[in-house]
Amino acid sequence: MQSVVSSVLREGRAVQRIHVAIIMDGNGRWATRRGMPRQAGHAAGVEALGHILEAAPDVGIGTLTVYAFSTDNWQRPTAEVNALMGLLRRYVEKETRRLVEGGARLTVIGRRDRLPADVAAAIGRAERATARGTKLHLRVAVDYSARDAILAAAETTARSGEFTREAFLRTLTSDAAGEPANHRYVDLLVRTGGEKRLSDFLLWECAYAELYFTDRLWPDFSAEDLATAVAAFHARERRFGGLGPSVSAA
Ligand code: FPP
Repeated sequence: MQSVVSSVLREGRAVQRIHVAIIMDGNGRWATRRGMPRQAGHAAGVEALGHILEAAPDVGIGTLTVYAFSTDNWQRPTAEVNALMGLLRRYVEKETRRLVEGGARLTVIGRRDRLPADVAAAIGRAERATARGTKLHLRVAVDYSARDAILAAAETTARSGEFTREAFLRTLTSDAAGEPANHRYVDLLVRTGGEKRLSDFLLWECAYAELYFTDRLWPDFSAEDLATAVAAFHARERRFGGLGPSVSAA
């Protein structure tokens, strides 16, 4: 597989534009430790996302995929699910203008058919309004399961009558159409909150992702923390199953 970073020239120096995925974990614990309801942690998580989005282009991120609501999160208490759906709707409604001004494109991945109608409609409007953004592609995973996404892409491809590897990949990564092919794959996966697992997030796209785990709870994750994670990524040697430059040159 090709190297999954692309160099662009910005401010006269080469910058790696990479695809970073984030599992934004720890909102509930952040709130509980402060004697607040879990929903307050999710609201603080939205604030943290705002800081991360602002910083992302400056640390060389071209695509940012964040896990906002997994298919398994439907199992949470109704009040928490409703709070998350409300936050999501308000987020896309409120942030659309800022995303357009900042040159960002928003797409939502995951199932749409089980979302409240007002949330699905708000997502559609925000996607259309931001479609021309090229500075950053923000992908928000909602009602998302990587295993379901892979199976759904296989089923759609089979039904199309053209079951080729290319057609399958095109379907699985359809929201990345028109972007550099390398952005279909994740370069760096960050998980906050101390757990060390993938939780059914981007299993295909993370095949060669570098993994970065931090104990920091998501609402406390700052632009500096993001820069530290990206710096750790650049310090790694990616071999994609080969030997890598240090051994090949020996
Ligand atoms: C995991 O923390 C986080 C979630 C299930 C939701 C993440 C959502 C946000 C950051 C806000 C909504 C996002 C948008 C784009 C509007 P947890 O609740 O599992 O925390 P815990 O492990 O401490 O219980």
